[in-house]
Amino acid sequence: MKVTVVGAGAVGASCAEYIAMKNFAAEVVLVDIKEGLAEGKAMDLMQTASLNQFDTQITGSTQDYRPTAGSDVAVITSGIPRKPGMTREELISTNAGIVKEVAQNLIQHSPEVTLIVVSNPMDTMTYLAHQALDLPKNRIIGMGGALDSARFKYRLAEALEAPISDVDGMVIGGHSDTGMLPLTRLATRNSVPVSHFLSPDRLQQVGEDTKVGGATLTKLLGTSAWYAPGAAVSAMVHAIANDSHKIFPCSCLLEGQYGLNDLCIGVPAKIGAQGIEEIVEIDLNDEEQAKLQESAAAVQKTNGLL
Ligand code: LAC
Repeated sequence: MKVTVVGAGAVGASCAEYIAMKNFAAEVVLVDIKEGLAEGKAMDLMQTASLNQFDTQITGSTQDYRPTAGSDVAVITSGIPRKPGMTREELISTNAGIVKEVAQNLIQHSPEVTLIVVSNPMDTMTYLAHQALDLPKNRIIGMGGALDSARFKYRLAEALEAPISDVDGMVIGGHSDTGMLPLTRLATRNSVPVSHFLSPDRLQQVGEDTKVGGATLTKLLGTSAWYAPGAAVSAMVHAIANDSHKIFPCSCLLEGQYGLNDLCIGVPAKIGAQGIEEIVEIDLNDEEQAKLQESAAAVQKTNGLL
């Protein structure tokens, strides 16, 4: 398995680090436009290899995509992150051009690649990659739901005072402060619905805290988060490498599923060697379906700015 990560900022470097730590990829290539940054981070990470016991070869490249040739998976983290008080949608004018160019460069050297899009506004950037590239729809995936669901589980475990390994839950919808849809009705603690333990008010609060998970961190850190985004990407890359058919909520191009068309938005999907193997259509109640429609309308509006 050869993985390219474009953007050697905090998210890209964390992503490379977590992939290497799992020791399943032969090669990770970091690419950045900033002279020396990708090479420097790659070298720094390689100097952890003997300590952290991985054999993955991490290399860096400044703007030259030739070393990425033959990648199985490529992750796009390029673009500017949001600052405190900004929405992800406000990044579109800067990031759209960057993501399009990066996607085209990647495909030129790795026509068989599966793309994972992280750059924000993520659902719209995933849609843009679909528009810009002639790739089968299963090979372009937006990372968002995997991260939002990890944040949901964190908040659930906090409210339940439970170990995170006891908790399961998923977030669908757009990767935005208002568009996320934490499915509290379906969340469980070791198979027991969380509503058995938590009041409707507390569950509502868990949902609200989840939706602003990224914004809360941006306010604390002064920039967008990187550990959980990097870990979410590495879990998805691992599922592709292992052909594991694991279900991740992620941004998929919809063609009628959930009554939605011609947009990318977070829904549960089986991820394996083919990328998106199957979109899983779960039964939503009327309220959840209405919220998903609302979230989709907001994503469509942002797509209209492309
Ligand atoms: C976040 C960014 C990756 O939610 O969108 O942290």
